[in-house]
Amino acid sequence: MDNNTIYILAIESSCDDTSAAVLCNRKRLSNVVATQKIHEEYGGVVPELASRAHQQNIVPVVHQALAKANIDKKQLSAIAFTRGPGLMGSLLVGTSFAKSLSLGLQIPLIEVNHMQAHILAHFIEEENSKIPTFPFLAMTISGGHTQIVLVKDYFKMDILGQSLDDAVGEAFDKSAKILGLPYPGGPLIDTYAQLGNPKAFPFPKPNVKGLDFSFSGLKTSILYFIQKQVKENPNFIEENRDDICASIQYTIVNILMSKLKKAVKQTGVKRIAIGGGVSANSGIRKALENAEKELGWTTYIPKFEYCTDNAAMIGIVGYLKYKEEKFADQSVTAKARYVINE
Ligand code: KG4
Ligand code: ZN
Repeated sequence: MDNNTIYILAIESSCDDTSAAVLCNRKRLSNVVATQKIHEEYGGVVPELASRAHQQNIVPVVHQALAKANIDKKQLSAIAFTRGPGLMGSLLVGTSFAKSLSLGLQIPLIEVNHMQAHILAHFIEEENSKIPTFPFLAMTISGGHTQIVLVKDYFKMDILGQSLDDAVGEAFDKSAKILGLPYPGGPLIDTYAQLGNPKAFPFPKPNVKGLDFSFSGLKTSILYFIQKQVKENPNFIEENRDDICASIQYTIVNILMSKLKKAVKQTGVKRIAIGGGVSANSGIRKALENAEKELGWTTYIPKFEYCTDNAAMIGIVGYLKYKEEKFADQSVTAKARYVINE
């Protein structure tokens, strides 16, 4: 092993996915994710159950990540872990595990901000992947986050806007719940939306200043609309499922795109990188494709594996921090609230 080869073991446990990855420089050797199915029964993540499941999953997941990468723990250069933001009980599991392992192996410890990691996931080396150049705009859209960030350098980021209430993924999931669809309903709304008429039922767009978002009003207006229709026709949802889903998706995609257009106007930056689970949505992908053609934007969407919560994205930040010798010491603690540019 020469000195330029850096092996990072990364650990992610901020919400309901326990994940471990091994990176060799910018390349992902393994990226194991144990998704906690238990929350499906409850229609959302139950923090207490999440931390217990992390406790059970973490050792086997780390073993698997090392085995898949064919790396012995003695070869590791450093341990990177998610310090926050996220659920405190979940974060504590990964944080404590990473601290102990770094102490045991006598190698550096690197703390990672989960929101930075969603953005820097674009720098994981993949065949044929497009890597954004600075500055670029990053929009992170998932079940926990909705944020537009101006990325000036790896560790120079300004938040331009974010959700004041629900995250966009929550808007999808809560709308799906109103329609009686199972959790998480975002992907199902997407599937049905592709069969329906997006203009069938107009829903109001929230009026939020600047580049911030709000999704709770949309959920309420969908709820009232459905309740009213079902009173008149008990089969309204079954008879109009595809059109309702298409209309919800159309409204949400419009909200995201209008804020992105505003951010481009405000900054003059036309490179747009998206991440988070909602990046899988066919409506947002199509809208970004159109913006490439019609508005001259360059858009970046990472492999889906790197969009949802995963440890490879923590690993790439670990690598970038390792190069700059940005290490943490054993006094580091988990942070449930952890701002991206803190
Ligand atoms: O990033 P992620 O796996 O987990 C976190 O929230 O951190 O994102 C999950 C979210 C869920 O709200 C899910 O419904 C949504 O992403 N999602 C989608 C689609 N695929 C996943 N929403 C709309 N359309 C999709 N195709
Ligand atoms: Zn996330």
